[in-house]
Amino acid sequence: MPHVSSLGNYNPVVSVYPDAKVASIDIAQRIASLIRSNHQSGKQTVLGLATGSTPIYVYEELVRLHREEHLRFKDVVSFNLDEYFPMQPDSPHSYVAFMQKHLFDHVDINPDNVYIPDGTHPRESIEDYCRTYEQKIGDLGGIDIQLLGIGRTGHIGFNEPGAEFDSQTRLVELNDLTRTDAAAGFGEKEQVPTEAITMGIDTILKARKIILMAWGKGKAAIIKKMMESDLTPDIPATFLKTCERVELVLDTEAASDLRKE
Ligand code: GLP
Repeated sequence: MPHVSSLGNYNPVVSVYPDAKVASIDIAQRIASLIRSNHQSGKQTVLGLATGSTPIYVYEELVRLHREEHLRFKDVVSFNLDEYFPMQPDSPHSYVAFMQKHLFDHVDINPDNVYIPDGTHPRESIEDYCRTYEQKIGDLGGIDIQLLGIGRTGHIGFNEPGAEFDSQTRLVELNDLTRTDAAAGFGEKEQVPTEAITMGIDTILKARKIILMAWGKGKAAIIKKMMESDLTPDIPATFLKTCERVELVLDTEAASDLRKE
């Protein structure tokens, strides 16, 4: 891994909106503009998608734009950041189910253009599988816009504390706090898988535009830490500060602990 002190440290653009809904509508509109302009020049749009409660309003607005404003997803390709491991796609806890419920079942995306890490892949060949996932992103020209949430551990995707700057798509262990936070959805913490497949930090940073979203008071502390800490694998989101294509989109509550300039 390159020594962290040799990495650039930009001040990411921080956009603060009055609330999550207004912010999400703006992000969805930006995605829609890109899809439309790429369509006009005969190009596909490659989206990097996230799960969790944070991106739900973005997906809601994309569905509305499809229904009411003719936004077409025929030439959109999507790669999801992560999936629990092991995980059956038809489980209600899978990120496959999440994406179908919030986006894919409601738009005209071609199912062959949807990529979500396979939580059923045999463990013995998982490394090859992850390499193929990474390769596929490159083969399709790379990600145009990558959406991200942030976990309270400072994870992006499932890159938990300890994740390396040059990490690629791989099988990882989930942090205890992440499993605690996911417990409500699974009924109890013991039901939350202990592992996941996630795109790496390097995979994420290769995207042409990266938007990290955070809403609510519950995210204020980790956003402050991310913005004020040096680059460190202890807070993987700090690595986003090495890339000038990153933008933080926050509501006023998530931004409330940031130092006012
Ligand atoms: C999960 C996902 C992350 C997401 C995080 C935050 O762990 N794998 O990609 O960013 O949760 O979740 P939420 O948006 O519900 O706060």
